[in-house]
Amino acid sequence: MKPITITHVLNQYQWDELAKEDQKLIELAKESTANSYAPYSQFSVGAALLLNDGTIVTGTNQENAAYPSGLCAERTAIFYANSQYPNQPVKTLAIAARTTKDFIAEHIAPCGACRQVILETERRYKQPIRILLYGKDSVLEVQGITDLLPLCFDGSSLDLG
Ligand code: THU
Repeated sequence: MKPITITHVLNQYQWDELAKEDQKLIELAKESTANSYAPYSQFSVGAALLLNDGTIVTGTNQENAAYPSGLCAERTAIFYANSQYPNQPVKTLAIAARTTKDFIAEHIAPCGACRQVILETERRYKQPIRILLYGKDSVLEVQGITDLLPLCFDGSSLDLG
């Protein structure tokens, strides 16, 4: 037996340290939480995507009385972007979340299903997606989804030959 160590380096920023473009994308993710439909969790999530051509797309979580039928903000935004701009790779994804009281102090990270969809989008466009996780206290930057999803399963594992 030999242990295998997986190391990932994430960057933690204070708000003032962020590039203006990143601040803008995060602000849009925050603003879009107002369009969340979250009557069951009262937890409003906003995602803002910057596409390669500069287009920005936002999405929010959309809940349903049949809970699993709802969708997270990240997948709502990505599927919308891929539907409307199928030739535009996603460059950056910003995620923000709030309760009924305020934006959360600690960043949230995308759920497992969203990570899998982000991975597919990276593979589809052959480009890593930078992810900015907003928290009031600090912002985390992830350089690509494999930092959040090591040992991932993608299409290359399928024998399609
Ligand atoms: N949610 C998201 O939209 N994105 C995440 O990254 C985590 C969770 C949503 C799903 C559900 O509507 C609510 O937050 C509570 O889980």
